[in-house]
Amino acid sequence: MNPGRRRTILITGASAGIGAALARVYAAKGWDLILTARREGPLEALAEELHGYGAVVTVITDDLADPAAPRRLFDAIADRSLIVDGLVNNAGFSRTAGFLQTEPEAHAAMIRVMLTAPVELARLFAPGMAERGFGRILNVASLAGQMPATGGDTLYGPIKSFLIKASQGLHLEMAGSGVHVTALCPGYTLTEFHDVNGTRAEVSSAYPAWMWQTAEHVAEIGYAALEANRPKVTPGFMNNVLAGLAKHLPDATALRMVGGHAKRLKRI
Ligand SMILES: NC(=O)c1ccc[n+]([C@@H]2O[C@H](COP(=O)([O-])OP(=O)(O)OC[C@H]3O[C@@H](n4cnc5c(N)ncnc54)[C@H](OP(=O)(O)O)[C@@H]3O)[C@@H](O)[C@H]2O)c1
Repeated sequence: MNPGRRRTILITGASAGIGAALARVYAAKGWDLILTARREGPLEALAEELHGYGAVVTVITDDLADPAAPRRLFDAIADRSLIVDGLVNNAGFSRTAGFLQTEPEAHAAMIRVMLTAPVELARLFAPGMAERGFGRILNVASLAGQMPATGGDTLYGPIKSFLIKASQGLHLEMAGSGVHVTALCPGYTLTEFHDVNGTRAEVSSAYPAWMWQTAEHVAEIGYAALEANRPKVTPGFMNNVLAGLAKHLPDATALRMVGGHAKRLKRI
């Protein structure tokens, strides 16, 4: 690396929540940023704020549900002669209406945004990182990826399980290359996520305040785990207890417990 060259990180889903919080953490640590999501307004407002840290911030809007988006992002970044030293695959959403009540297009979009796009972006940017002997890849998965299946948001947990396992595999492959890979597995986090999926009222009454974490806390934990090159991190003591329980309970028992949880939220 040229002496004095600042590192640049690409963050997907940076217009809100955990992605925006991670952008603030990286800007504070002296990184330049490439922010992407569909909504330009919040991205531009965040970019303006991050200039306050002295960061060079590039905004590129795109819709990761479009299968062509990862390649388009890669090309748009290459056209600007930017070098991506870090990638945060964070964009995501869930649908909780039930498998049959959710349009096939929405299922396809979930898979593209949270599974296909992270894989493709990692495949596009990791070779350059490995060649330069430095890279950071943070995949924002979920506690849901470590829990038994739920009804209602049938695909969300399996997509996040995939992301955790794929991150762990890439973490092993990249060992010794200077490229760190971590799956970040938040539990309930205060962001726009539950407004977007329409469950804000239900989850707020079902889960006490102590079960919720701030996006800022989750982002700090994710940053530190990636720097330490941990394959996976789950922020919060209680979330680790839940993940541990899920691992050790018999499948049928765990499934019954989580099935009850989905019913409480009136998903099924
Ligand atoms: N909040 C939680 O309780 C929680 C728990 C565990 C894991 N997570 C995970 O954390 C990640 C971030 O979620 P969040 O909680 O921060 O939610 P959020 O506040 O709703 O933010 C989601 C971000 O994803 C972007 N996004 C959604 N669909 C997109 C698309 N088609 N193309 C491009 N960008 C898209 C949104 O931007 P635009 O709308 O501008 O496109 C937004 O920036 C997700 O992967 C989520 O699964 C969240």
